[in-house]
Formats: sequence, C-alpha cells, structure tokens
Amino acid sequence: MKVAGQHYRTIWPENGGQMNGSQANGSQTVAIIDQTQLPHHFKTLRVDSVTAMVSAIKTMQVRGAPLIGAAAAYGMALATNVDSDEHALKQAAHELLASRPTAVNLAWAVERMLQVLLPLPESERCAAAWREAAAICDEDVTINQAIGQHGLAMLRTLAKELQRPLNILTHCNAGWLATVDWGTALSPIYAAHDAGLAVHVWVDETRPRNQGASLTAWELQQHGVPHTIISDNAGGHLMQHGRVDCVIVGADRVTATGDVCNKIGTYLKALAAFDNRVPFYAAVPTPTIDWSMCDGLREIPIEERDAGEVAYMSGMAADGSVQAVRVIPAGSAAANPAFDVTPARLVTGIITERGICPPGELQRMIKEANP
Ligand code: MRU
Repeated sequence: MKVAGQHYRTIWPENGGQMNGSQANGSQTVAIIDQTQLPHHFKTLRVDSVTAMVSAIKTMQVRGAPLIGAAAAYGMALATNVDSDEHALKQAAHELLASRPTAVNLAWAVERMLQVLLPLPESERCAAAWREAAAICDEDVTINQAIGQHGLAMLRTLAKELQRPLNILTHCNAGWLATVDWGTALSPIYAAHDAGLAVHVWVDETRPRNQGASLTAWELQQHGVPHTIISDNAGGHLMQHGRVDCVIVGADRVTATGDVCNKIGTYLKALAAFDNRVPFYAAVPTPTIDWSMCDGLREIPIEERDAGEVAYMSGMAADGSVQAVRVIPAGSAAANPAFDVTPARLVTGIITERGICPPGELQRMIKEANP
C-alpha cells in the first residue's frame, strides 16, 4: 500500500530492497514500520536481532496476526545470523513463541521455519531462513489479495441488493498494517473502493490500544476511503437504526469449527449484528486457522495485557508532543483481556483466500477439498 505516494510493505529485509535469500551472508537486518508511533509519526525501525524482534512483537511495534507471523519468521532468520545450530534455533523459536500467545500465525510461522531449517546442513540454514521468511511474506500478500477479491464479490452482491452505498463496520485494525500488505478485513474494502463501488467504513476506536482510531483510520485516509471513527459502544445503536450493512473483522485464531477469536469487543459486535440481522464476516487467511482446536471458548489462549493500557491513553497534545494521560482514578484496579471469541453460530461467513463459506463448512472448503 502507499504512504504519501510511496509503496510500502510493513516488513522487509534491510539489504538493498528485495534481497534474494541466496545472498544472505549473516549481516542482514529487518525493517518495520513502528506502529506505536502512528497516526502521529510515520517512522521505520531497524530490527537486528531475535531479541529485538521479540520486543517489537511484545510492545506491538508490529502487530496483527499475519504480520506477527511474518515478523516471527524474520526473527528466526535474524537468529541464524548469529548461530544456526539446532539448540540456537530452538531457543529462538521458544523466545518468539512466548512473545504473544493468541495469534496462531506466530506458531505457524515458527514451526514452518524449523521444519525447513533443521533438516538442512548448518552451513545452508542462514540463506534458507532469509529465503523462507521472504516466501512467507510474499504468500501473505497473495493470500490477502485473494481475500480482497472474494470479499469484493460479496460486497457487489450486497450493493446490488441494497442499491445504495454500503456502510461497513470494522473492529480493531485488520488492514495492511496488520499483514504484510493489503490486510484481511480491509482488503475487500480497498478492492471495492478501487473498483468504484461506493463504500463507507464505520471504524470502531478499539480501546484500549485504539487500533481502529489510530491505525485503521490512518490507513483508510491514506487510501482515500470514506470513513467515520465511532466509539466502541456505538456499533449496536447504528445497527438498530439500519446504518450498518455488514460487519467485516479480522481474526487471530479460528477453530476448525469456525469459532473466531479476534480483538476484545468483537463478540459484542457479533451479538449486535446477529440481533439486527446484519451479516457478520471474518476475513481469515488459512494460516490463521488452528485445525487442532474445535472449541474456541475453552481452547484458545487469551492474552492478558498490562492493565496500564486501560489506565492510560496516549495522544497528541496541542504543542505536537505525544503524551500519555491517566484516565482512571489512581488506585483503581484495571484488567485487560486482549481478545475474545465469537462462537461460529454468530458468524455469517468466513472469507478466505479460497472463497467464502459458512463457519461450519470451513473444514470441507479448505482441508478436504485441498488435502
Ligand atoms: O493486538 P493486535 O493489534 O495484534 O490485534 C489485532 C487484531 O485483533 C486483528 O483484528 C487480527 O490480528 C487480524 S489482523 C489481519
């Protein structure tokens, strides 16, 4: 996607642009967009070790399930710069896996890297690691573009039915900042906008980290997509008054049975959508599906983040400085579960790179059709 007219991915090897993995010589680093600075400052950062990548993931300088997976893959590549023996790779994998628990893309990417690297002679692992991380990134872009096209077909049908511009509600940030490029939930929206379909996006602010207000709104603005930021509590009211035509969200982990784990507050939007007969879609790349799980509520680990994220909000002051202010009484307790699970029964459809299906048909559409 473009920032001020220049094309960016959210993560790239820092060695003269599109470095070929075969050129890896143990000195490559990785560049990321520091998402904690947005929307106020657009800054890129150099990440030069697996420890620095673990920290970037934990502090959410990189975030969003597919991007966390890509960042973890590059974290493994950074580890091979220093040491490619089995013990070192397993130690790097262990540190990356502990950085954030909910998005399954992280474990998926780390396991894929280990599977590719460990059978190779040690001397070949570094080049192979950089090559594999780049492949994971390229695949993510292709997957998200396909999600965009399948979602576009669904939006075209809805627009034809309603004969008016579409109002789409989204929660958190599942745009290009949350992936390598294009996004998941926002990919159909970009595709629709680019195809000339009139769309307007209701952007949930998404407390406590405000990914909607800070990141989704910024992205949509860069792309020229009409949007309005709403408080997290406004969505149900808008749905009751016919002002939302569909909801599209991303996901951090989806079970084989179609339960959708996503940013905290998604479940409440799904309940309101169900009550108001508003179609509710989750846009899900297949690496976000955890085929080992069938009961999202019981099985998916939910990250508990620091209560300080609830107690403090940060923003730009009148003098242009970015400041954090406390918004709760000193001494009050705060809790910060970061994700929730929307049961499959509340989900109209899952948009994947292979097509759209009801949640209960995920396994048939993807696994059985493509064993
Ligand atoms: O805590 P975050 O910002 O990493 O959470 C992100 C989300 O919940 C996204 O909706 C999800 O990862 C899908 S991203 C395409």
